[in-house]
Amino acid sequence: MSGTVHRYEQFWIGASMLLILVFVGSILVTAALGLAHPPSHVEHLDPAAVQSDPTRWAPGIVPLPDGTIQVTLTARIWSFRPERLELPAGRPILFRIASPDVMHGFQIVGTNVNAMVVPGYVTQVRAVFPRPGTFLMVCNEYCGVGHHNMASSLTIVPEGGAR
Ligand code: CUA
Repeated sequence: MSGTVHRYEQFWIGASMLLILVFVGSILVTAALGLAHPPSHVEHLDPAAVQSDPTRWAPGIVPLPDGTIQVTLTARIWSFRPERLELPAGRPILFRIASPDVMHGFQIVGTNVNAMVVPGYVTQVRAVFPRPGTFLMVCNEYCGVGHHNMASSLTIVPEGGAR
């Protein structure tokens, strides 16, 4: 019969509409309550400070009292600073990464280190590299015409051999 919709069809149209309302509603509620932020570690940092305020953002390698090695990195168009890293095997490493410009990615190929670097936030990733080796460190978020050049290397040396 023309002009009528089968009950099953009515049900599925209604269920689809409800799902859409739930999805859109969850986005609106999250935005309204200010809950839209990166998962896990949440630390705000003014993107302008990343480039120009060494008291708030100083790229480099610092050993922490608990034995962790903290690596502070700047991800900017289109390189990482410091550009080359040398770290010891077997030690806990804490990467802290921030961007002064656009969104970047931070991936150490062949490991499970893979994170987004969103301007305005500090990204934190913990890792341990059990064995010495050389790893490729790449940006895996498209960040402009130089994106494909945004890569550098990470060398893991035997424990006790690093600076
Ligand atoms: Cu930075 Cu792609």
